[in-house]
Amino acid sequence: MAARLALAAVGPRCSVAVRQLATQRGLWLRLGQCAAAAATAGAARPARRGFSSSTVAQAAAAATATLSRDEVITSHPYNNVTDSIFQKIGTNLHQQPSHPLGILKGAIYDYFDQQHPGTFTTFDGLAPVVAAKANFDEILIPADHVSRSPNDTYYVDPDTVLRCHTSAHQAEILRQGVRAFLVTGDVYRRDSIDATHYPVFHQMEGVRVFNPADWQAAGMDATQFAETELKRTLEGLAQHLFGAVEMRWVDAYFPFTEPSYELEIFFNGEWLEVLGCGVMQQPILDKNLGPGQKAWAFGLGLERLAMVLFDIPDIRLFWTADQRFLKQFKAGDLTTKFKSYSKYPPCYKDVAFWISDAFTENNLCEIVRSVAGDLAEEVKLIDNFTHPKTGRTSHCYRIAYRSMDRSLTDEEINALQDEVRSTISDKLKVELR
Ligand code: DAH
Repeated sequence: MAARLALAAVGPRCSVAVRQLATQRGLWLRLGQCAAAAATAGAARPARRGFSSSTVAQAAAAATATLSRDEVITSHPYNNVTDSIFQKIGTNLHQQPSHPLGILKGAIYDYFDQQHPGTFTTFDGLAPVVAAKANFDEILIPADHVSRSPNDTYYVDPDTVLRCHTSAHQAEILRQGVRAFLVTGDVYRRDSIDATHYPVFHQMEGVRVFNPADWQAAGMDATQFAETELKRTLEGLAQHLFGAVEMRWVDAYFPFTEPSYELEIFFNGEWLEVLGCGVMQQPILDKNLGPGQKAWAFGLGLERLAMVLFDIPDIRLFWTADQRFLKQFKAGDLTTKFKSYSKYPPCYKDVAFWISDAFTENNLCEIVRSVAGDLAEEVKLIDNFTHPKTGRTSHCYRIAYRSMDRSLTDEEINALQDEVRSTISDKLKVELR
């Protein structure tokens, strides 16, 4: 089972923190610019505010790049971006004001506007194709960190990735001298398939930098001041979104912050992780903005929060064009509870094979998604055994096919399953049983 990233969706997606832990334990795992294109189109520019009410700093034209297929699906042997992933680039669901992700983004903008009028510059159109250096090195993700694996991250070539988090823009925006900002965007991770995981989702990153005068006036040391400000700000944000809820701070690990925390709220009877955050590692600031400053940073997964706020049961729904979904939401309204318009039955198909050493579940899921697209609801390992004599290992996966919008026919599902079977036997070097 793939390890999960914390800030993505509703399920127990594990964060960089967890991924780090898993690496230490030697488990499979991972965290979470257009080399050519990003250098030009992806360079950080403030994006147009998708939202009505506020007057946050310098709103300018959206800078979303139009990337050609050849820029993203290169012939480089390292390239693992599939067509189905390429097609998501540029959709920018978070820019639609009455889409649940746009509503949530707007609510967060409103909060920062109310608390600190004119302070935060917002970016929501930065291209998702970024330099691997920006995604990893510039925010101090170690060279051997699992998140760098092509099993986890989409590479265009060895130096260029589809960003796996919005933290990828921290350094470049600091270099422009912007001291408080929010970056919203689509992020990409190879992952397993179920109701809360999708290879493209949306995050928002926040950063705020302080001067010595700020912490001196408060009579605190720099780190203590940034941490106090961080917690106050984010508790206020959680309250703005969820109302008067119980909250707790949980110690965490992220390569780019120290100390690091996750904020959890008690909502609908359970503890829910809302975001990851911390006091930014000093070298990131020193190198990109200049010495003597201190900052906090946070990152949150928009789908994860929207699913909880709006009662959206399946992450694929964010991508549907069905008006029965879209019509239920209204710009500026956080109170909608989604009502299922229909529930078509899932159809289950099993596939069993002898694995090879190179087999990974993410590679299997990539194939299922390429063949079945959003009709794939879940891919679950239901049997795993090693033959006592030959030592070979067999896996059996159960694939659930289901459409959000219509019934599927037997023929359609059988055709998909046949194609899944032949593609995995071709591409994964496994022996079907
Ligand atoms: N980039 C992290 C992730 O995707 C989330 C995150 C955690 C962002 C802590 C931050 C931060 O800016 O300070 O899992």
